[in-house]
Amino acid sequence: MYSTERAGIAAKTKRGKKQQQPLAWREQLEAGQIKHWKKVREIGDEIRFHLSDRTTYIHDDAVHFLAELPPNSIHAIVTDPPYGLIEYEEKHLQKRKAGSGGVWRVPPSFDGSTRAPLPRFTVLSGDEINQLHTFFSAVAYGALRALVPGGHVFIASNPLLSSMCFHAFQEAGFEKRGEIIRQVQTLRGGYKPKGAEAEFPDVSVMPRSCWEPWGMFRKPLIGTVSENLKTWGTGGLRRATPDEPLRDLIPCYPTRGTERKIAPHPSLKPQRFMRQIVRAALPLGVGIVYDPFAGSGSTLAAAAAVGYHAIGTDRSLEYVEMARHAFAPLSALKV
Ligand SMILES: C[S@@+](CC[C@H](N)C(=O)[O-])C[C@H]1O[C@@H](n2cnc3c(N)ncnc32)[C@H](O)[C@@H]1O
Repeated sequence: MYSTERAGIAAKTKRGKKQQQPLAWREQLEAGQIKHWKKVREIGDEIRFHLSDRTTYIHDDAVHFLAELPPNSIHAIVTDPPYGLIEYEEKHLQKRKAGSGGVWRVPPSFDGSTRAPLPRFTVLSGDEINQLHTFFSAVAYGALRALVPGGHVFIASNPLLSSMCFHAFQEAGFEKRGEIIRQVQTLRGGYKPKGAEAEFPDVSVMPRSCWEPWGMFRKPLIGTVSENLKTWGTGGLRRATPDEPLRDLIPCYPTRGTERKIAPHPSLKPQRFMRQIVRAALPLGVGIVYDPFAGSGSTLAAAAAVGYHAIGTDRSLEYVEMARHAFAPLSALKV
């Protein structure tokens, strides 16, 4: 178990004997963090890549790695999980590459340019949604154990499946602290009835989606926010400036072409957005951010850009390799 309270400094007394002097709480936190980081980045036997002295990417299953982490060892989780469970299976990725069938759907073209496929969550059956709930429960229980008290989770979702995912986090024991709305023009929804577009020109089957919900959860605090901040470095959110709190509506363009070229992952999130939420996730800028479903490493790159320690896992070696190449250029991008 990690407690920053254990961090101290050996100072010499007048008689030359070493004695533990209490440090100011901030120095204790920072001293504890350095030792702690060295241990946590080496946990487990899986293949890992130290992408920088503050960033490690491990080829592992998220639920497995969460179980390997010691209790109270991570300070924030920022992640964009799979929502079909099946969409990142090899069979469905092959169908995506072939351009037809499966859970990936190519949005209709309206300006002559080809669109990237999006996962089609409306094809999930009741059983698949139940399986998803079980999966998110396993992630949520693992996260609750691995996070320090007051640690935040920011988890990307979509309007069709967010209630199921968010409920799993609340059931596990997290407090819901709100939602960040990433305001973004997507190509989801807004379609006319399939095969009867001409017959029903004024009908769409669901709204065109213009936002992406990110659930925000917090592991219960120990004591007050101030006490929790001093002991664990967590419990609140970092402000953009002393006068400017994190806002829960963040207007954001879709991921830019330059970023997609660097990291051609089907679900790449934009640096401009990721850096804002990753930065906010550590209120004092001290601690470790973990992304269990790190994909091409956009969370890790964002953490590097704001100067944080971060660990990622992904069960696909292809995406781990993609992140190894994308990490430096993504984190160096101006946003
Ligand atoms: C939505 S994508 C995340 C993409 C990421 N936001 C980015 O910008 O590159 C979800 C990722 O989770 C990975 N994944 C799916 N199931 C997993 C599991 N059980 N453990 C770890 N990774 C998993 C997939 O390989 C995929 O890369």
